Amino acid sequence: MEKKRETLPTSRQVVMSGIRPTGFLHLGNYFGAIRNYVKMQDDFDCYFMVADLHSLTTHPDTKELKQNVHRVIAENIACGLDVDKAAFYCQSHVPETAELYLYLNMMAYKGELEKTTTFKDKVRLQPQNVNAGLLTYPVLQAADIILHRAKYVPVGKDQEQHLEMARTFANRFNHRYGDVLPEPIAFNYNQPLLKVPSLDGTGKMSKSENQNATLYLADEDEVIRKKVMKTKTDAGPVKQNSTKPDYIENIFELMHLVSREDVFKKFEEDYNSCTIRYGDMKKQLAEDMVTFIAPIRAKVNTILNDGNYLKEVMEKGAAKANASANATMKLVREAIGLKYY
Ligand code: TRP
Repeated sequence: MEKKRETLPTSRQVVMSGIRPTGFLHLGNYFGAIRNYVKMQDDFDCYFMVADLHSLTTHPDTKELKQNVHRVIAENIACGLDVDKAAFYCQSHVPETAELYLYLNMMAYKGELEKTTTFKDKVRLQPQNVNAGLLTYPVLQAADIILHRAKYVPVGKDQEQHLEMARTFANRFNHRYGDVLPEPIAFNYNQPLLKVPSLDGTGKMSKSENQNATLYLADEDEVIRKKVMKTKTDAGPVKQNSTKPDYIENIFELMHLVSREDVFKKFEEDYNSCTIRYGDMKKQLAEDMVTFIAPIRAKVNTILNDGNYLKEVMEKGAAKANASANATMKLVREAIGLKYY
């Protein structure tokens, strides 16, 4: 009876993704990733994981780890991630991850690991700590995904190579030991991921680059206003319906994300008729950003102050993830032949 239940396909496809617990989340994380997670939790069996073990490959100093893990949990929940719908857990709370990582390491060749773009980047960034964990980072990531036999992985372009490697490892495993593991693919509802432009008109919002050009979910109202008011503008268009320069287009894009449609349209019309006042537009955008971010920030702080709740969330997530991991590992061990009686 029990056996039957384990091998029965789940009624919904499995989604899995990992979030590194480094630093504060920003508007780009929200619109580029979390918003999709929140949608997916209604449509799929979701496993969202805080990648604390991965962070050890680059951040051996764990003084701030706990604080960072708490923050990333609180921020995702404040953004709408529902721990009763999705399994939201910490990687280190699912020890089977390490076991699967070991088996998958036999499927990964040194040469291909050394050729991975993220590995080469990190060797350049931390030449004093080129540890084996760094080299096998993609194997650990493959273990995260395969542990739940996930098919869909909501990630951006920068993770495409890791996903390709996860497919390779799963494939090699299946060839050697029988068809047990699905090959995961990147999935974002078949839509390009939304990019949130940075406030200085160069590129998109990011954790590491110019902090004044990025709006964090933890930013205080006054900080948000200051950052928005500082964005670059000019004297305004002189010809009706002219194309917008990049830095102006960015302001409109940001407004489109957080302001009401009629407000956005009004400024669009003002622009096209050359009557736009950028000062007013920025003031409006600043207020709408505050309206958007302030409740999230407040919710994050409430969660961070509630140790019992955080514990409950982590325990609930670990229980769900462990159940799924155990089922997969039973299949994996048997397929490999690690069953002697
Ligand atoms: N490597 C991912 C990143 O840097 C994080 C991650 C860890 C992940 N495990 C994962 C992403 C599993 C997707 C699936 O963002």
